[in-house]
Amino acid sequence: MYLGIDLGTSAVKTVLVDGAQRVIASESRPLTTVSPQSGYYEQDPAQWIDATFATLDALKASHAGELAAVEGIGLSGQMHGATLLDASLRPLRPCILWNDGRSAAECLILEQRWPALRATSGNKAMPGFTAPKLLWIATHEPDIFAAIKLVLLPKAYLRLVLSGEAIEDVSDASGSLWLDAARRDWSDAALAATGLSRDHMPRLVEGCAPATTLRAELARRWGMTRQPVIAGGAGDNPAGAVGIGAIGPGTAFISLGTSGALMAPTSRIAANPDRAVHTFCHAIPAMWIQAGAILSAASCLAWLARLFGVGEAELLAPLGARPQAPSPVSFLPYLAGERTPHDDPAVRGMLDGLSHGTDRGTIVQAVLEGVAFALADCREALADAGIAIAEADVIGGGSRSPFWLSVLANVLNVPVHRFVGGETGAAFGAARLGRLAVTGEAIAAVCTRPERIETFEPDAELVDTYAGRLPAWRELYRPRH
Ligand code: XUL
Repeated sequence: MYLGIDLGTSAVKTVLVDGAQRVIASESRPLTTVSPQSGYYEQDPAQWIDATFATLDALKASHAGELAAVEGIGLSGQMHGATLLDASLRPLRPCILWNDGRSAAECLILEQRWPALRATSGNKAMPGFTAPKLLWIATHEPDIFAAIKLVLLPKAYLRLVLSGEAIEDVSDASGSLWLDAARRDWSDAALAATGLSRDHMPRLVEGCAPATTLRAELARRWGMTRQPVIAGGAGDNPAGAVGIGAIGPGTAFISLGTSGALMAPTSRIAANPDRAVHTFCHAIPAMWIQAGAILSAASCLAWLARLFGVGEAELLAPLGARPQAPSPVSFLPYLAGERTPHDDPAVRGMLDGLSHGTDRGTIVQAVLEGVAFALADCREALADAGIAIAEADVIGGGSRSPFWLSVLANVLNVPVHRFVGGETGAAFGAARLGRLAVTGEAIAAVCTRPERIETFEPDAELVDTYAGRLPAWRELYRPRH
């Protein structure tokens, strides 16, 4: 029996998976994000721990026998967040999250201080990444900076609480900008450029390698007969890839979570930092992921549901199964700024083309299309790096909507596939990494492709209509910096 724990942005999701890779049970607890100013996003690390413990306590209540038999645990997590710990390993302040845009000025300073940043990390310095956040802290909260003993990404903090050890996997670590992506090791020069050293960093492991074990008292609390092994795990996007067996070249996929991404696993680095393409180590050895990342995807739908005061399912239901024609309204999904391709933390969203005839459904469709157009921009940025996308699997909460997947198939002009359990992809991928860490099985034997529920084929007429709309949609973007 294996556990996958995904420390997401909107919730912690924990899945219990058996030896036949069936999800036996899952539990989820919501998380709240605080926005002290526009473009600032923070979370209290204590709630990650409370939410995780609540999912495990609930699994103990409902599936005590299965939980007792857990041998391996995999962690997945929201990437890039800066969790700063003092000498007693307590958080010094709330974690600054992946979608926080406050450190734009520090990105420029970082690239000046360390000109090899792009060549070494495979990434452009963008405010979402961890390193510029530390420069911001050094300038704006110097007392906190001086007190930092350890800098951890969110799931490494969770692992510290679960095991007592500070360890990070290379996929999540590549979202810090402190990693030498080719060598899969910390870069001393990168750390020095932010006034830090290896002493402030956790030990590194590969995602599928055994990292540590669950503390004895926690294993007892959850009735486990042994102290399960905790694997390296992965950032949520690489973990999602493992969950759907996207482990080799030619297995591109889209994540429609709070954020969105178009990702392509590669056997060599094919970076394009100038167009804000992300380079991550994959959660399996000797593979990387090139990704276009957008900051708001399913969160745009959640925003709309809040505005209209209804649930997301109610918003989507009137749209039907697939679009007949594009919405007359256009939407820029830049509610939290944007990374690929603009790298513009200051830009904000837009609804264009509203009229007296605009109804709720027209706006909902425009929002889904706006996210799809943003992913088309990501596809173009990946194509510039020589990565062609012939088809795409979709994971994350947004994959529940057939209408949205049909829009994606037509906007991207590729077949789009939906999976059984696609919406819990990262937690399931994490459970697979937990299993690999225990059994040492062949990666390809475990990371198989789950059953596809449905394929959405592009429709030639709609493909042409959407392609005709894309240039006008792009014109709506006006840089704010
Ligand atoms: C990826 C990214 C997000 C977060 C939160 O670069 O910032 O996908 O991992 O999900």
